[in-house]
Amino acid sequence: MSTQSNDRIAATLIPGDGIGPEISNAVVKILDALEAPFAWDVQQGGMAGIESSGDPLPAALLESVGRTKLALKGPLTTPVGGGFRSVNVRLREAFGLYANLRPVRTMIPGGRYEDIDIVLVRENLEGLYVAFEHFIAVGDDPRAVAISQGINTREEARRIVRFAFEYAVQHGRKKVTIVHKANVLKALTGLFLEAGREIAKEYEGRIAVDDRIVDACAMQLVLNPWQFDVIVTTNLFGDILSDQLAGLVGGLGMAPGANIGEKAAIFEAVHGSAPDIAGQGIANPLALLLAAALMLEHVQRSDLAGRLRSAILQTVQADSVRTRDIGGSASTQEFADAIIRRVLA
Ligand code: NAI
Repeated sequence: MSTQSNDRIAATLIPGDGIGPEISNAVVKILDALEAPFAWDVQQGGMAGIESSGDPLPAALLESVGRTKLALKGPLTTPVGGGFRSVNVRLREAFGLYANLRPVRTMIPGGRYEDIDIVLVRENLEGLYVAFEHFIAVGDDPRAVAISQGINTREEARRIVRFAFEYAVQHGRKKVTIVHKANVLKALTGLFLEAGREIAKEYEGRIAVDDRIVDACAMQLVLNPWQFDVIVTTNLFGDILSDQLAGLVGGLGMAPGANIGEKAAIFEAVHGSAPDIAGQGIANPLALLLAAALMLEHVQRSDLAGRLRSAILQTVQADSVRTRDIGGSASTQEFADAIIRRVLA
């Protein structure tokens, strides 16, 4: 199924489940109109993987991403509590996707905040998300006590903070803020802060650095988000703060993410499979589309990423065509068609 000719780049497309197939379909049509250079190898994962092959993370999917080293991924449902382990987390582990890049930028004027332009870099492999968890029984309650251990390593902390500073240098950013909870979790996040400060010294005079305790950061993001430029933080804090950032620019429908590692790069929306609206044709495809713009930049096609972003801006601003979650009434398909008209204009 996969093709690679001289001018095309083999890439894995994982439509995902829930709203995944609807938004992936819209995004691929827009990318086709843009003549993006991807040759898609379509693979099922999550609930769709279970339906097609009985496995949420089929071997064929892993083989495909291993070969193409490049994927655009729709959301994948993770059962809460029991059930299978998060396929997203397993993909990050399988391909060593240590850096999770989540940029947010205001695209729709008139919201609570204007001119937001913040990039969050989240450590993707360690912290509490290693999920070394167990229960201890007390009396007749087998789950009376829950214990979870987090792991942060100096090596990984240095690598992710370096990634954030390199990103800042390459994208003309001015400041990196290291976010932690070193006042309470002195070992787990103290080590992250210590390693971060070491790396920051290498960029002295080029990129400014400061640090914030995560709770203060959350408040400052509401009071004065414009003070932030690039934020780098541990896995759990990054997960929470990136949803908060999405809220500053109009919600989860607007927030893209990139998972970058040495063995592959996987681009996705920050939001999940939105089971409450799946199948209704009303999901906003923008987050996945903006992830595709990051993917175009990753393969050195910033020209196409720029055209795509300006088509999106014209659609939501000048044409005022939007899905419901961002104040419009367009269906997923109508919204995609409007963006395609701008791409082709
Ligand atoms: P969610 O992000 O799927 O939905 C939260 C709310 O935002 C819902 O009301 C939903 O309708 C809305 N929403 C999300 N994306 C939207 C879009 N594109 N357009 C319009 N509205 C949108 O979060 P939830 O409900 O907590 O998670 C659902 C499932 O997704 C869970 O199984 C979770 O584990 C999974 N998930 C997967 C992720 C991934 O694949 N990267 C990331 C986050 C969650």
